[in-house]
Amino acid sequence: MLDRLTDRARGLSDPGGRAILGITGCPGAGKSTLAHLLVQALHKGGFPAVWVPMDGFHLADAALDRLGRRDRKGAIDTFDGHGYLATLRRLRDEFDNPVYAPDFDREIEQPIAGSIAVDPATRLIVTEGNYLLSRTDPWPRIREQLTEAWYVEVADDLRLTRLVARHVRFGKPPEAARRWVAEVDEPNARLIASTRDRADLHIDLSQL
Ligand SMILES: Nc1ncnc2c1ncn2[C@@H]1O[C@H](COP(=O)(O)OP(=O)(O)O)[C@@H](O)[C@H]1O
Ligand SMILES: [Mg+2]
Repeated sequence: MLDRLTDRARGLSDPGGRAILGITGCPGAGKSTLAHLLVQALHKGGFPAVWVPMDGFHLADAALDRLGRRDRKGAIDTFDGHGYLATLRRLRDEFDNPVYAPDFDREIEQPIAGSIAVDPATRLIVTEGNYLLSRTDPWPRIREQLTEAWYVEVADDLRLTRLVARHVRFGKPPEAARRWVAEVDEPNARLIASTRDRADLHIDLSQL
């Protein structure tokens, strides 16, 4: 499966500039894992692709505190969607200089500006995150920047087990992790699932 997806990603080109592949799906579905595997496989074949996560556009805790939204970090209104849109536009058509994108550090749960360098030779951006296909502004304009959008999914019980395990791995006690999944991640998952029909390709990651 990965070979076929790698070939498809390699074949993407965009007359408007650099191609941008978007991967979306519910929390824990495997978006980041697939993006890493793809970029790794593309590099192995000498193809210049770079991973740029939507998670880098999480608002910082200081900003979330001002907005009173820290207790639901990960919801659509806890991201800098306009900043993400501006960066995707730069990534599409800026070739004279490196473009730097932020990453999200899961240890401290904070975005870090200037973490990811996209150099001029880069031909494909692989970006991934929860809300790429959402219908509220500015997300439809983000969708327009994507050459293709892929929606990844696994059975819900497997996804939830992995999601709780990931929260525990990054420091939450098991009970708090389960509560966070039920109260924060799953409402987000329902919104994301409602955007499923807007994708160009659906991928069952159970076999990965
Ligand atoms: N094929 C797989 N086998 C085992 N664990 C996986 C697999 N794919 C993903 N995971 C794990 O499941 C969790 C969720 O995957 P991740 O890629 O972080 O999802 P997303 O980015 O969609 O939230 C991670 O901890 C990841 O390591
Ligand atoms: Mg992820």
